[in-house]
Amino acid sequence: MKQQPGELKLNFEKFPKKFREYLAKEEKLVCNWAKGNILDVGCGTGRIIGKLEWIAQERLEQNDEAERALSYTGIDVRREYLDDIQKKIRDEREKNNTRWKSDRLNLPVILMSIDARNLSRYFINNQFDTTLCLWNTLGVLEEPDKVLKGILDVTGEQAIISLGKKGAILDRTTYYKSLGIPYSIEEKTETIISEAWGKSRAYSLNEIEDMSIGIDARITNIESIENLYWIVRYEKR
Ligand SMILES: C[S@@+](CC[C@H](N)C(=O)[O-])C[C@H]1O[C@@H](n2cnc3c(N)ncnc32)[C@H](O)[C@@H]1O
Repeated sequence: MKQQPGELKLNFEKFPKKFREYLAKEEKLVCNWAKGNILDVGCGTGRIIGKLEWIAQERLEQNDEAERALSYTGIDVRREYLDDIQKKIRDEREKNNTRWKSDRLNLPVILMSIDARNLSRYFINNQFDTTLCLWNTLGVLEEPDKVLKGILDVTGEQAIISLGKKGAILDRTTYYKSLGIPYSIEEKTETIISEAWGKSRAYSLNEIEDMSIGIDARITNIESIENLYWIVRYEKR
């Protein structure tokens, strides 16, 4: 049967080391910065949710009233990914293992199958304290500029966005090869095109700044992780 876009089952252990390190560093930054009511745009199969549940628990144990109240809304077009998250949460909470302690659970979860281009149809302005759009999700969506604007409209405080970095085309194609994904490259823009994941763009610092012109937020942090991705933190004005 022909593989549908995005249907690939990922085995993180098979990823090149640099990519595993990128994911671990990104998760750490997100856990340090995340607060309040969180929206995860293009949440996939829930990479970040287990980590957030864990920090919600840690903050609860520290009795940090101001910081502890986290809630999570994940949206993705792929309903089966959301079913996957739901199953993982149920299984883990039933097991009551150390990462997902169900006895004092502090992470309410909402999952919605909607298109990232339509956030304003479902959410009101400034509804979320923290909005995430990770692992170059913005760089694979159609109309990324419109989605970025929509993200910042529904964000009250901060948005954390990661984007593919220009100059890393060799590493990025090695990653596709290591997963056995056929691809072609649009050399000028360093866009990788595959049936599995569609168009995956990469950005220079200037392009990120240009994309951010006219939005109601300013960039307060921007750093390169493993020379593969940018992580950008926007704060509302
Ligand atoms: C690169 S994956 C990233 C998954 C997750 N954010 C992470 O960091 O692990 C991109 C995700 O965006 C989702 N996606 C693609 N187009 C979308 C759209 N128009 N609206 C919402 N989600 C979309 C895909 O289904 C996929 O789960």
